[in-house]
Amino acid sequence: MTEATFPSLRMQRGRASPWMRAMLAEHRLHPSDLIWPLFICDGDDCEEPIAALSGVSRWSIDRLAGRVRLAAELGIPCVALFPNTPEALRTDDAKEALNPDNLLCRAIRAIKDAVPEIGVLTDVALDPYTAHGHDGLVDEGRVLNDETVAVLAQQALVQAAAGADIVAPSDMMDGRVAAIRQALEVAGHHDVAIMAYAAKYASAFYGPFRDAVGSASRLKDDKRGYQMDPANSDEALREVALDIAEGADMVMVKPGLPYLDVIARVKERFGMPTFAYQVSGEYAMIEAAAAAGAGDRDALLLETLIAFKRAGATGVLTYHALDAAKLLNG
Ligand code: PBG
Repeated sequence: MTEATFPSLRMQRGRASPWMRAMLAEHRLHPSDLIWPLFICDGDDCEEPIAALSGVSRWSIDRLAGRVRLAAELGIPCVALFPNTPEALRTDDAKEALNPDNLLCRAIRAIKDAVPEIGVLTDVALDPYTAHGHDGLVDEGRVLNDETVAVLAQQALVQAAAGADIVAPSDMMDGRVAAIRQALEVAGHHDVAIMAYAAKYASAFYGPFRDAVGSASRLKDDKRGYQMDPANSDEALREVALDIAEGADMVMVKPGLPYLDVIARVKERFGMPTFAYQVSGEYAMIEAAAAAGAGDRDALLLETLIAFKRAGATGVLTYHALDAAKLLNG
């Protein structure tokens, strides 16, 4: 391409006014790009603020629908649900994950009842249910892949039966997407989609989330034996390729901002619906920066969200979804 040079070419012509900038914008953020993660607690009429995530709370089921309705009214297409399982129900075998009346399943039904127009995404992993806080079954400190996959397939079925629209395996076990897809097909849940946490890293940015679902204090070691090494991105492409081959409808990269290069490579290589999870530690970082006077909160969050779009993400899971949607709706 032959382009003019200065002074015939002046790049600032394209930036001189708000209307010109709007007209030339290459990417746009819309409320429909956002998925809102919500934490659920047991009990009635309660809101439990999460200390490590200022502005984020756990909600009891009776108050959850009101939050979800707000999201729907603002144009957010989907919510992601995370239960804080009561202590007494956490066991080594995670059997509460398979209880059709567990906190999560009751929440799914309540939302489907009250706000049927919004999508419900559920996390498939055992960490909110295990006594040790790992995503899988553990023997002598090692996560048992195949035994865990069998439970995950059952867990996905329980969630689908309760009304989940998208099941999202976040556990990083090998072969789980195929097992879940097959279980869903056999059970007749043909329309339940799988969003695979395909490239999920063993990240230091998950801390506040683990507080929110009550697994932080239980977890004695890290998850590096099954989650990805932050040093790798060729490996992320192999992980994504596997999940697509196994039947994932959409893939996810997690965390978000520190892994924009991975999102860009995944989108470029596979052309699949590709989601980014702006995780709890990223949310906390933006809130802390704003509280410290290091930047304007609204501007910071919108800039990070458009960065995901620029990198090629189809959409973003973010705890800022409601605030972002409000800002975008003016
Ligand atoms: C666990 C799960 C985690 C997150 C989503 N699902 C934490 C982990 O892997 O330890 C993290 C989300 C966040 O930090 O916001 N299956």
